[in-house]
Amino acid sequence: MAVDMREMLPPYRIKVVEPIPFLTAAERQQALAEAGYNPFNLRADQITVDLLSDSGTGATSAAQEAAAALGDESYAGARSWFRFRDEVHDLTGYPRILPVHQGRAGERILFTSLLKPGQICISNTHFDTTHANVELAGAEARDLPCPEAFDLDSAAPFKGNIDLDALERTLTGPEGHRVGLVLMTITNNGLGAQPVSMANLAAVGELCRRHRVPFFLDAARFAENAWLVGQREPGYRDWTPRQIAAQAFQLADGCVVSLKKDGLSAIGGFIGLRDDDLHARCEANLIATEGFSTYGGLAGHDLERLTQGLREVVDPAYLRARAASTARLARLVNDAGVDTVQPAGIHALYLNAGRLLPHLSPGEFPGHALGCQLYLDGGIRCAELGSLYLGGMDDQHRLVTPAPFELVRLAIPRRVYTDTHFEYVAEVLADIAKDPERVPGYRVVSSPPLLRHFKVRLAQIPAPGSGG
Ligand code: F0G
Repeated sequence: MAVDMREMLPPYRIKVVEPIPFLTAAERQQALAEAGYNPFNLRADQITVDLLSDSGTGATSAAQEAAAALGDESYAGARSWFRFRDEVHDLTGYPRILPVHQGRAGERILFTSLLKPGQICISNTHFDTTHANVELAGAEARDLPCPEAFDLDSAAPFKGNIDLDALERTLTGPEGHRVGLVLMTITNNGLGAQPVSMANLAAVGELCRRHRVPFFLDAARFAENAWLVGQREPGYRDWTPRQIAAQAFQLADGCVVSLKKDGLSAIGGFIGLRDDDLHARCEANLIATEGFSTYGGLAGHDLERLTQGLREVVDPAYLRARAASTARLARLVNDAGVDTVQPAGIHALYLNAGRLLPHLSPGEFPGHALGCQLYLDGGIRCAELGSLYLGGMDDQHRLVTPAPFELVRLAIPRRVYTDTHFEYVAEVLADIAKDPERVPGYRVVSSPPLLRHFKVRLAQIPAPGSGG
C-alpha cells in the first residue's frame, strides 16, 4: 500500500512516554467477565490500546506544559482567564464567552437557560450527553441527518450534514412554533465522524434567521471539521483551518464546545454567545453551578493549556498528519476484510460489525460482541454504537427495536499512539475477520434507565455446540 510519508509525518516528536499494560488472554477474559462484559467497567491498567474515547485523552505539548506553569489561580479576574478569553474570542468572534469544565456542563447551562419545556431541539445528530441534557431541560431532542448518512458505504463528502428539506418542513409545519433551537454537531460524532459542509451551515443559518430560531454549533471537533472542509468543499482549498473554523462560528448565533477534543487538553469547554440577555441567564447559572465566570470550574493552569492547545490544533501540519493516520488505519482495516463507514473521518473509525458478524442477530449485539472480542484478543478497548446503545428494549432487557446499524467506534486519542499501535489494531481485527463465527453474542443482565451503555452489564451467549 503506497503511503505518502510526507502527508503522514507528525509535526512533533515524543518527549514524555507512559508504559502500557500487556495482560495474558486468561487475564483479559477474567477482567472482562468481572466488568460485566462492559468495557466502561474495565480498569485502565487492564488495557493495551485504549480507543474508547478521543475526549480528554490526548497528549499535551511542551509549550502547553510551559504555559501551565504560568497558570494564575486567582479566584476572580485571573490573567489566565483573559488570555483564554481573548484566544477564544479571536477564533470564534463571539463577544460573550463563558468557561465551563467540559462540554456537557455547557450544554446543561445553555439548554436550561434557552429551552422551555415542550420545545424541540433539532440537530444533524445529538451526541448522547447532548441528547440527555436537552431532555433533562424538558425539551425534545430530534435528529434530522441527511439521507446520505444512511448509506455507510457511500463516499459522499459531507455525510454529517443536516437534512435541509426536513428542517424546513419542520420549521414551516405545525410544530414549527415549538422549535427552540437548531444545534449542528461538527463533526457528526454520532454518525461516523462525518463533516458538515459550510454550505449546509450557511443554509441552516439562513433558515433559522428566517424563522427566528437560535442556531448554535456543538463544535467539539471544529478544527477537524475545518480540515475536512478545506479538503473536500470547493472554494475552501486556500483557506487555513483557522479561517474555515472562524467562518463556521460566524454563521451561527453561538456555540457550546467541549475542549477535551480540539482543545488538546484533558479538561475544559466554553459557551460562546452574541445575545446579552442569554449571556446574563447563562452566567447566573454558571456561577451557581460551575464557578465564577472567569474560571467556570477550570484551574488557571487548565486555561493556559487550553489557550495554547487552541493555537496548536489548527496547525495544518498537525491536522494533515492526523487525518492521514486515521485514513491509513481505515485502509489497513478495509484490506483485512472489515468494512468501515466511508469516507474515513478523523477522530474515529467506525467498524461495520453488523456486516462482519452476520451470524449474530441485532438482539445478540454484534457491535458490542466485536468490541469485546477486540479486548479479549488484543487488549483493545472501544465503544459500541449499535443496538446496545440506541436500540429499544423491553422490561426483560430484550431488544425490541434494533438500531439502524451495528457499529463499533475506534476513537483515536490525539498525539498518543503511533502508527505501529494502529497496525497492531488492524492485525487483531484481521484475525477476527478470518474466523468471525467464533465471536459469541451477548445478552443484557442488568441495565440503568438512562444512558444505558455506560452502566449496562451483560453475559456471553455460549456458541451453539460449545457445550457452555
Ligand atoms: N458534543 C460532542 C459532539 C461530543 O462528542 C461530546 C463528548 C460532547 C458534546 C460532550 O462533551 O465530554 O466534554 O462533556 N464526546 C466524548 C466522546 C465523550 O467520546 O465522543 P464532554
